[in-house]
Amino acid sequence: MSTAEPPTDLMERIVALAKRRGFIFPSSEIYGGLNGFFDYGPLGVELKKNIRDCWWNDMVRRRDDIVGLESSIIMHPKVWEASGHVAGFTDPLVDCKVSKQRYRADQLFFAPVVVRKGLEVEETKTTKSIAKEGFTSTDTEATSTQIKTEDEIIGYVSVLESENTKGELQSAAEALKRKRAAKGELLPLKIRDFTEARLEEITLIPSPATGEPGSLTPPRAFNMMFETYVGALRDDSAKSYLRPETAQGMFVDFKSVVDTGRVKLPFGIAQIGKSFRNEITPRNFIFRSREFEQMEMEYFIHEDADWDKCHKEWIEWCRQWLLSIGLPESHLSLYAHPKEKLAFYSKGTVDIMFKYPFGVQELWGIAARGNYDLSQHAKASGKPMEIFDEATKKKFVPHVIEPAVGVDRILLAVLCAGYAEEDVKDEKGNVEKRTVLRFSPRLAPVKVAVLPLVKNKPELVARAEALYKNLKRKYAVFYDESGAIGRRYRRQDEIGTPWCVTIDFETIEMDGTFTLRDRDSMQQKRIHEAELFALLEEKVY
Ligand code: GAP
Repeated sequence: MSTAEPPTDLMERIVALAKRRGFIFPSSEIYGGLNGFFDYGPLGVELKKNIRDCWWNDMVRRRDDIVGLESSIIMHPKVWEASGHVAGFTDPLVDCKVSKQRYRADQLFFAPVVVRKGLEVEETKTTKSIAKEGFTSTDTEATSTQIKTEDEIIGYVSVLESENTKGELQSAAEALKRKRAAKGELLPLKIRDFTEARLEEITLIPSPATGEPGSLTPPRAFNMMFETYVGALRDDSAKSYLRPETAQGMFVDFKSVVDTGRVKLPFGIAQIGKSFRNEITPRNFIFRSREFEQMEMEYFIHEDADWDKCHKEWIEWCRQWLLSIGLPESHLSLYAHPKEKLAFYSKGTVDIMFKYPFGVQELWGIAARGNYDLSQHAKASGKPMEIFDEATKKKFVPHVIEPAVGVDRILLAVLCAGYAEEDVKDEKGNVEKRTVLRFSPRLAPVKVAVLPLVKNKPELVARAEALYKNLKRKYAVFYDESGAIGRRYRRQDEIGTPWCVTIDFETIEMDGTFTLRDRDSMQQKRIHEAELFALLEEKVY
């Protein structure tokens, strides 16, 4: 944005632009949409394909140690039993019995609201005094007022997780204190998520939907896999699942790849494909949806290899790759999962986080998973997953490092980081607004727009069309001859086209050069066709 602080409705503006310019639509919109599902329009599908292609080229084609795979979306149900998904791919679900809303317990935050009251207490003290002469004593009584404090829970507040969970709970607590006309000091809130609520607290915590306590159920495990039936029968014997991750394909096909692919440790198997999760609360546009696309790679290493070094190398590789597609370094950070929250077989997981307008969130997870997955499938299928070590003459099950990222999450990050609104001057010097998407040339859905200055000069139009045809053989280009040139530039800025070329009178009457306008600097210069191709060759790879 041109202003230092992004507007509070930045996300709404991005969603509106994505729809207006044909990047992303709600799925089945004419029927009211389906929560957690989205369609990619003409520009969105190009942007998404460019993300996939960049990843595939850099991850698979430009490396000698990684091969590709495309496994089926529906696999044998035993795959998901062995992987642990049938028993454990769950999120904690909470129902509101009144509103019928459902929440993820770990995204529902609450706190008891405690008020500290000062109470005036009268204290009577008795002092004994003994007369100097003789042995008689007298009791003297003195009354004084003391302030004692007492803490009282005046109720509970709850909110759904947001980038300002703490602030929202604080406001709710202050509102509750006013409503109850409670006197005294509000103590700092002790915030917990609903999975940590004690049974006796559950009836006291208000539902975020109604604001009233008493309607929330205790959390229960909800399996997120979509079930389906394979074949004509509709009983348990035919039950299968839409895959919730692409990774299991790489484990299940591990032996086939080793036996046919001439691969040697360390090596990786990569896959891009759709995954499905029946998320309890899909949200933040395409950030958490129910149908999404993953790009995952399983990097197999020797059981004695330095897994920590390899893990770190992959974290850095992923970070560098995100920079190579134009995400700003300032928006990236790392989050190491605490040891006590890791699965028993996991050696470590680090997430690359991205600063989205709705908060810093996971973009890419890089996990060191030991040999858990291969061992599980070996056990369940009875097929060995070992590799023979020539040096030690021993067989072993390789360990794995797994970088796993969502295409849609990258696309959203690219949209959010690239979006800007700026004040610019038009040809007459008037200030106007321009909305621009600063996509890297690698990802931009349209690389070049070809614009004849006028459309009623056949020679000029013929030259523009010839250039357009030449470019189109290799690049996604756009031809536009309608409207004032300034307006045509704005239209391209809004869809993130890095360059516009304008064919003008000089092109046909002089040296054949045309103007090249840069989206970000808005500077123009004259270049020859060969220079344009050289520029594209360098920037679009
Ligand atoms: N095989 C490991 C695995 O699937 P994950 O952390 O559950 O790990 C990997 O998912 C990545 O897939 C995430 O970092 C995220 O980018 C993406 N992802 C996961 N769930 C998603 C959802 N519901 N919507 C969009 N992307 C999702």
